[in-house]
Amino acid sequence: MNFIKNNTKNEKTNTEPSPKTKTSSAPLRNRGLLSAITPIGIEFNKNEFALGENYCRIYSVIKYPPEVSIGWLSRLTGIPGTIVSISVTPIDNADFSNTMSRTVSEYRAAAESTKDQLERSRKIKAADDAEKIMKQIDQDNGNASGFGLQIMVLSRDKEDFTDKCSRIESAANALGCRVRILSNLQKDAYMHLSATYPQQKIINDIIERPFLLSTFTGGYPYAENGFCDTEGYYLGKNSSGGIVLFDLWKRSTTRTNSNITLVGDSGMGKSTALKHLILSEAARGTKIIIIDPEGEYKEICLSEYIKGKWIDVAGGRGGVINPLQVRPAPRDDDEEEKGVKDQGVDLSGVGDLAIHLKTLDTFFSLYLPSLTDSHKALLELVLIELYKQFGITWDTDVTKLKNAVYPTFTDLYNLIHGKKETDKSKFALYDELELLLSSAANGADRGLWNGQTTIDGNSNCICLDTKAVTSMGSRILSAQYFNVLSWCWQEMSKNKTERVMLIADECWMLIDPRCPQSLEFLRNAEKRARKYEGSVVVSTQQLVDFLDPQVKMYGQPVLDMPTIKLLFSLSGKGLEEAVEVFGLNTAQTELVGSKQRGAALMNIGAQKMKIQFSFSDERLAMFGKGGGR
Ligand SMILES: Nc1ncnc2c1ncn2[C@@H]1O[C@H](COP(=O)(O)OP(=O)(O)OP(=O)(O)O)[C@@H](O)[C@H]1O
Ligand SMILES: [Mg+2]
Repeated sequence: MNFIKNNTKNEKTNTEPSPKTKTSSAPLRNRGLLSAITPIGIEFNKNEFALGENYCRIYSVIKYPPEVSIGWLSRLTGIPGTIVSISVTPIDNADFSNTMSRTVSEYRAAAESTKDQLERSRKIKAADDAEKIMKQIDQDNGNASGFGLQIMVLSRDKEDFTDKCSRIESAANALGCRVRILSNLQKDAYMHLSATYPQQKIINDIIERPFLLSTFTGGYPYAENGFCDTEGYYLGKNSSGGIVLFDLWKRSTTRTNSNITLVGDSGMGKSTALKHLILSEAARGTKIIIIDPEGEYKEICLSEYIKGKWIDVAGGRGGVINPLQVRPAPRDDDEEEKGVKDQGVDLSGVGDLAIHLKTLDTFFSLYLPSLTDSHKALLELVLIELYKQFGITWDTDVTKLKNAVYPTFTDLYNLIHGKKETDKSKFALYDELELLLSSAANGADRGLWNGQTTIDGNSNCICLDTKAVTSMGSRILSAQYFNVLSWCWQEMSKNKTERVMLIADECWMLIDPRCPQSLEFLRNAEKRARKYEGSVVVSTQQLVDFLDPQVKMYGQPVLDMPTIKLLFSLSGKGLEEAVEVFGLNTAQTELVGSKQRGAALMNIGAQKMKIQFSFSDERLAMFGKGGGR
């Protein structure tokens, strides 16, 4: 009986569909297996052979270690780019016991007769091991069989072929196995391994060894060395070159949300990994919203693969998000949201307007840090009056209102101006407020915020480009980032069953230590996202902004809460902080500090592993040139 394990199925060189193949209708073809059983041409040499375009070599295992641990075989049978064949021949337990008994006697006699101390202890050990097996068969009903193991390397690239051969040899050495190429027997070995031929006696005689069935099966020869979520898409490769098959939406006891944290120094590959996620998720039908402070997602968003909507939210040319439009905000309660509203007042008793006034308080704190408590209190009163004038009260259900019904900054400014004249007792305060808001109403910032919301979220992918805001200073940048974020949350929470992935790249730009509420908003969004089939992806170069003592109570959960974390290379203080925040051990610290572009420590649920984001040139070309080189 022959069992064949094909580890070449995910190898790029062997599985790519031909350009003429229609991927949607054609059945999936495993080209590695197809070319192995129906090669175009075969040419056998002494130690290797050519199978179509592939370089091939078959290794046979001729010696096994005397002692093994659970899963021992998987290290040899799970090497990517190889085909493994295991032949099993049932043997009679009684015959086997007799043979073993003879073997024990031979070892014992040899141990007695030798004068070499080392040799003697080896023979005694071998006799003890054989006796143990005999006992297992006799007393514990163990089953013995004859096993033979062959490993075939298959590659179109000579260098890759040599690499894989070395990997097999070193994996065998590390295990205490001995592998042989069986010179001049490659043809017989190939026939023995092939599913279309019976076992070849000449090979069987060389490679077959008796084993307890439990020893072999306990070696997990069929264990995959990759990471597999069963569904999803290729994310990257793990440290042993195995495929990481990832499903962002998978839930388990340790994967309770679909949020992702990406941290890493500049140029280490965060945005590249994100672009791969965007393309992969878009192909699965997930709606994508990107906050793009570096203007690097335009190309991918408008590409033929996505055909999304790109909006410049930096000054009216592309679109305005009116901060005064009442939008829902994620709430910090652990209650399941029942979705039942009574005229805008939900079960928690807090209406949309009340929640939005809090969002506005955060917005104004970021935009105008010099606002005093008195300014804020007065501004809130004016806002309530303004909303009342526009027919919006505590009880209004805003979900049915159109963008055009909301007041703008001009309306707010005019109301304050009017109040200044009618309420002389607070003239000075109104006057200051008027001055502070004049830029948003009539000055340089009016293009950003003064107007009704003009952007609409009706697309499978929306890229909100805030690049041009960067030059307006950190105050305006963080306020606009927050304004955009609150609009994104509105989009995410519109439909509880639609999968939405929100990507907040360079998220540190949102943070102002004087205003922890912006991070509180983000933390609440992460907390609530799973109830809306949402995924919040936060990417940052810097940890320090999140860990500032003034904002740490919200900043740390923003980094910590996602059940998927990707730590790209970090250096200096960033690395020290990562060690503390993510509890990295020495090996993990070494990996994160190793300055490898495109490599990350992936923390997924309770598992930590190295992932290498490795893409073909074609795939990289799909990401566009926005990320630089
Ligand atoms: N996995 C990868 N494979 C090949 N090239 C990569 C990979 N990751 C990154 N690069 C290259 O490095 C460049 C910079 O990477 P990327 O933009 O992803 O870095 P980043 O971590 O987002 O940096 P920043 O924080 O400055 O935005 C990319 O444009 C790409 O050319
Ligand atoms: Mg980037």
